[in-house]
Amino acid sequence: MTAAFAAVGRMIYRTVLISLLLVALAAFFALLASRWVGKPVQHLAETSHEIAAGNFGQRVDTLGLTFEMADLADNFNRMSGHVESYVEQLKRAAAANRELFIGSIRAFAAAIDAKDPYTRGHSERVAAVSRSIASSLGLEADFQQHVWLGALLHDVGKIGVDDRILKKGGVLTPEEFDQMKLHTVIGAEIMARIEQLRDIVPAIRWHHENWNGRGYPDALRGEDIPLIARIIAVADTFDAVTTSRPYQQAYTLEFAVETITKLTGTRFDAKITTAFLKAFNTGLIENAIRRASQPTEQMEASAALMVSDVGIVGSSQAAGEPSAALPPMPKERRATARLKP
Ligand SMILES: [Fe+2]
Repeated sequence: MTAAFAAVGRMIYRTVLISLLLVALAAFFALLASRWVGKPVQHLAETSHEIAAGNFGQRVDTLGLTFEMADLADNFNRMSGHVESYVEQLKRAAAANRELFIGSIRAFAAAIDAKDPYTRGHSERVAAVSRSIASSLGLEADFQQHVWLGALLHDVGKIGVDDRILKKGGVLTPEEFDQMKLHTVIGAEIMARIEQLRDIVPAIRWHHENWNGRGYPDALRGEDIPLIARIIAVADTFDAVTTSRPYQQAYTLEFAVETITKLTGTRFDAKITTAFLKAFNTGLIENAIRRASQPTEQMEASAALMVSDVGIVGSSQAAGEPSAALPPMPKERRATARLKP
């Protein structure tokens, strides 16, 4: 009887042991299977997160995957390849649009400058000098670009000023000067209508304001004048002094620096003139002017087209006459205007 119970006990023990071994084996194979299937799925999930984060070059490695998983990974890779291609196309289109926008703005600014033979290339040079000052101030790249654009269009309001005043070969009468002052207000009104250019309206309206409050059109004072307008005011004066005008021959760059220094605290913000002097002494200003002078020829060609196609030049220009807006400027005058004598 005891022997019979002992045999049953051994049988139960073996059965339990075998069952436990089978459970352990099943768990082991289940773990292997889950790793085999789960790992590629996890990799797929990680790659999709990378793509969602904007890293469109990511692909899933299909090596060692089962047929179904490899098919899924292939489809995923094809899909991310298409997304990457579309994103590249969008980037190229955005870059082309941006170039078209900048090119149009530059041609427009050149057309405005071309209304007055003495201000050819003025906007490009003021834009380049303004950006150098912004860089010297340590302002962010985006703001430097913003300053460049504002300076490029700072005199856009001259489109609404009578050509007889713009082209007058002598000193303006008080009435004519009042008309000329309006270019700030006219330009600001024109640009305020363009949503994408609203940020540069302060540059256009207030680039003739003075630090001491004696400027125009609103007699703003000190830091009430937006930073962008204070920067452009210095660059504008620098270019005006160093280029020939109906009432003056071009002065040297050193004389322009001296003039700006003398006007610090009355006309200009000391912080801006300090940044200007730093940029000038490191050669940044001269390099900027040199670079800005290079595309002038192309801009003038575009401007000439705009002038003839849109009729920006006043009606006083007779049809068939050579363009009065774009007379050739003697080479020696250019050299005097842009570089050291
Ligand atoms: Fe102006």
